[in-house]
Amino acid sequence: MLRTQVAIVGAGPAGLLLGQLLHKEGVDTLLLERRSADYVAARIRAGVLEPGTVDVLERAGVATRLHAEGLTHDGVEIGFRGLRHRVDLKALTGKAVTVYGQTEVTRDLMEARTRSGASSVYEAEDVALHDFAGPTPRITYRHQGEAHEVACDFIAGCDGFHGISRRSVPAAAMSVFERVYPFGWLGLLADVPPPWHELIYANSEHGFALASLRSPTRVRCYIQCSLEDRVEQWSDERFWTEFRRRIGGEISARVPSAPSIEKSIAPLRSFVAEPLRFGRLFLAGDAAHIVPPTGAKGLNLAVSDVFYLYEALRDFYGERSERALDEYSARALRRIWRAERFSWWMTRQLHRFPGDAFDERLQQTELEHLFESHAAQMAMAENYVGLPFEPFRGG
Ligand code: FAD
Ligand code: PHB
Repeated sequence: MLRTQVAIVGAGPAGLLLGQLLHKEGVDTLLLERRSADYVAARIRAGVLEPGTVDVLERAGVATRLHAEGLTHDGVEIGFRGLRHRVDLKALTGKAVTVYGQTEVTRDLMEARTRSGASSVYEAEDVALHDFAGPTPRITYRHQGEAHEVACDFIAGCDGFHGISRRSVPAAAMSVFERVYPFGWLGLLADVPPPWHELIYANSEHGFALASLRSPTRVRCYIQCSLEDRVEQWSDERFWTEFRRRIGGEISARVPSAPSIEKSIAPLRSFVAEPLRFGRLFLAGDAAHIVPPTGAKGLNLAVSDVFYLYEALRDFYGERSERALDEYSARALRRIWRAERFSWWMTRQLHRFPGDAFDERLQQTELEHLFESHAAQMAMAENYVGLPFEPFRGG
């Protein structure tokens, strides 16, 4: 039987980052991933990093390219009824966000893991978690037709929303909180210089649209779509026509119909599983929670979970102290719920909901208050740039 100190399930940003941080502390990890390395490296997802996320990536020693190629954004814009209102993140909070794709973060982490020599198994099938309620957890899996078994001290369940880790926990030991939204996001990536300088989140009478970017030559755009829609129903031309209608103003005249490199539909969901610890199994990132992407929090939250878990495991191996491990779940959940609240709020204010006229008036009132109130903008800005990491209270 193989042996490792921490077995990490899932090579998304959460699993890869935990592996890298632990490697720097001399802790041995084995990373098990269901997909191929090429598939993981090509996945297109989030794009906005909080300053706290950048700090953690620096600490992990994977921020060189991020600093060279990431774009600093001091503000974001909200479009409503044909007008754009800027929220000056920098002036309000002293902080800015960094535009750097999750694809790039993943690539930097995968390269660092290869350099570190730490073990990874891609295309691991039938991963199963065993005995994590006691002191000697194990993982079994198949790789290239052969059965394998790994003994470990801890299992980090970093395998995303559809992973096996959360589903390995007895239902009675877990509480789940969930909201499913009645629409999805259709996203399109294209190689064309963005005709906007900062992200624009637009609430239009035809539905939500987001103008984002990945680099000075690559745009990422989204529109709210029906949950019944299929990507094949959306030609590039149809997407751009709808996007122009929603983004409005002088921007729409400058949006070119660039061919897509990638186009996909994602449903919107809020979800939290509690607690995050079950004996020697710890959940982190999307394995434990989902936010709708409107607040740009999914990836950032995965990073703060991982940072707390890293600190706890470092203390365990360094000082033989279990106090931070004991506090991990409560500590991570405090920040998770704040990001859940903000992501829900952003989603609520910016999309068309099948509600009544009363809901619509409330949305309009909320947005007008945001545009006019310094305090409301401050509240949005401090959440958008990311709330501070929770201190470790265990002493
Ligand atoms: P993941 O990135 O999901 O990684 C989990 C890994 O575990 C995957 O590589 C998966 O293949 C692997 N895995 C799953 N099951 C198993 C198993 N049984 N055994 C072994 N490995 C397994 N956030 C934003 O802020 N903006 C966005 O635009 C945005 N778009 C998104 C689009 C989609 C389709 C999805 C799913 C998420 C999106 N997110 C977005 C959220 C953001 O990408 C996630 O919050 C982030 O990827 C979380 O990282 P993670 O490592 O926790 O999970
Ligand atoms: C993105 O660029 O993919 C992106 C940016 C901001 C969001 C969501 C997605 O809120």
